[in-house]
Amino acid sequence: MKKQLLFLGAPGAGKGTQAELLSQTYSYLHLSTGELLRKEIEMNTILGKEVKAIMNRGELVSDELVLKIVRQNLNKDNKGWILDGYPRNLSQANSLNEVLIEINQPLEVVFYLDIPEEVLIKRLLLRGRKDDNEETIRTRVNIYKKTTEPLIQYFKDLSLLEYINADRDLKSISAEIKQKMA
Ligand code: AP5
Repeated sequence: MKKQLLFLGAPGAGKGTQAELLSQTYSYLHLSTGELLRKEIEMNTILGKEVKAIMNRGELVSDELVLKIVRQNLNKDNKGWILDGYPRNLSQANSLNEVLIEINQPLEVVFYLDIPEEVLIKRLLLRGRKDDNEETIRTRVNIYKKTTEPLIQYFKDLSLLEYINADRDLKSISAEIKQKMA
């Protein structure tokens, strides 16, 4: 059973939903950089104040900051982990590689959740999170295409990529993921 997983995909592809389901089933750590940053905002910490406006605009916060969060959470004691929302660009992918070498826990599989743009826009508008308005969604999708999408090829070249059609019901997606983890 694979224990070191990563979810890649556009905003609204279902990364968080699937990662949460899996983390509950297998007691793995669900490490969502977006979720951790939103908690900082909720708690009104210095970090939260620093990132609030950036996140509300749908832009990426700095690589250094998210790396710090990842380092704080990934360690040798984790029974397994699922990264969701990290890495988002090549620089973050390289940093992640260094961290994983340090803790001697290599990435085992990357699930790429593929979804048509019109479906993700509908899903996000329905959800209505603070950054789920039309303008911000457009920014997030554009940044995703420009900086995150190249990681699909990056992980393909490392023979880690598993393609998942994410435009289906939750259960079918999760069943396929579990099968591919075995
Ligand atoms: P983040 O929280 O990572 O947001 P995101 O990537 O835009 O992803 P979403 O949470 O919108 O979508 P998801 O794929 O997780 O889908 P979900 O399961 O929620 O990041 C937010 C912000 O934080 C960024 O914009 C940036 O500012 C900052 N940030 C985070 N990480 C960073 C990093 N590494 N570097 C720099 N900045 C970073 O599902 C979406 C909706 O669809 C839900 O309502 C769900 O119920 C529904 N749904 C899910 N699956 C299905 C299905 N199969 N059928 C129908 N509905 C479904």
